[in-house]
Amino acid sequence: DWTSDTFIDSTIDALRTRLGKDKVVMGLSGGVDSSVAATLIHRAIGDQLTCVFVDNGLLRKNEFEEVLDSYKHLGLNVIGVDAKQRFYEALAGLTDPEAKRKAIGRVFIEVFDDEAHKIEGVKWLGQGTIYPDVIESVSVKGPSATIKSHHNVGGLPDFMKLSVVEPLNTLFKDEVREVGRALEIPEAIIGRHPFPGPGLAIRILGDITAEKVKTLQEVDHIFIQGLKEHGLYDKVWQAGAILLPIQSVGVMGDERTYERVVALRAVGSVDGMTADWIHLPYEFLGKMSNEIINRVKGVNRVVYDISSKPPATIEWE
Ligand code: XMP
Repeated sequence: DWTSDTFIDSTIDALRTRLGKDKVVMGLSGGVDSSVAATLIHRAIGDQLTCVFVDNGLLRKNEFEEVLDSYKHLGLNVIGVDAKQRFYEALAGLTDPEAKRKAIGRVFIEVFDDEAHKIEGVKWLGQGTIYPDVIESVSVKGPSATIKSHHNVGGLPDFMKLSVVEPLNTLFKDEVREVGRALEIPEAIIGRHPFPGPGLAIRILGDITAEKVKTLQEVDHIFIQGLKEHGLYDKVWQAGAILLPIQSVGVMGDERTYERVVALRAVGSVDGMTADWIHLPYEFLGKMSNEIINRVKGVNRVVYDISSKPPATIEWE
């Protein structure tokens, strides 16, 4: 029978044998999978593992600093790279969802490659790939592989010339979480909702600017904090806010306003392949709407997405 403890012991042994004295580099995303994979590799080979965590300017509010901090507490040897401007420059003027994904994927590889080149004699690339990712990238006919190119799977440029080590590629998400808890990775990482690799870029419909990112980060932060404070966060599989490319008329005091509209989204799911919109309490939604409109400059309307997948998708882009 599978248990997290036997998995951890046998995986660490196998990693030691396989990696020996070799150096490994690995990109961290702040998510469960890469954090658990890195912790396992670190347990096996210590500081022969170098982790790279990139700030692409598309993360949630304060996420880069907070996650970097928890990685350091875990004892990981991690380099934080501020690449915000590089991503914003590559995204400037792009509006097509797939074009945005490609630009982000390309810049990520460039930034990551720059860091990997600084590690002398590195031989391996660590990845947090889990079993469903393997299935999904193999079955090119599968819905999300054709509809959206998930940039964090495969697609390694030749020039990196690294062998891949993926300690979680036989596990499902719930097993990864169990392993993570047994490794004493903080609950803030283990229980975190999934977050797409391209981050807020695919939740800002249309072109990306630093100012739009800032606005969406504030809205998202109020919503996610609200879910946590009302005991709803763990009842939801994934949640977030979407900045729409339209303005709507509102009124503030005696003034007419013409400002942005945001959508809130919260879904229940098992694996992201199908999803149901969550019936959040009206009182909670009302409170979120008031807080967002009162606190976030430039937003005067909040709507709630009541579409399930299929036929909608979880993300709007
Ligand atoms: P959709 O929108 O296809 O999303 O219903 C299903 C799950 O996948 C995530 N997602 C992505 N993750 N890169 C990622 O790493 C992507 O380009 C991407 N697109 C969607 C989405 O957040 C949801 O969890």
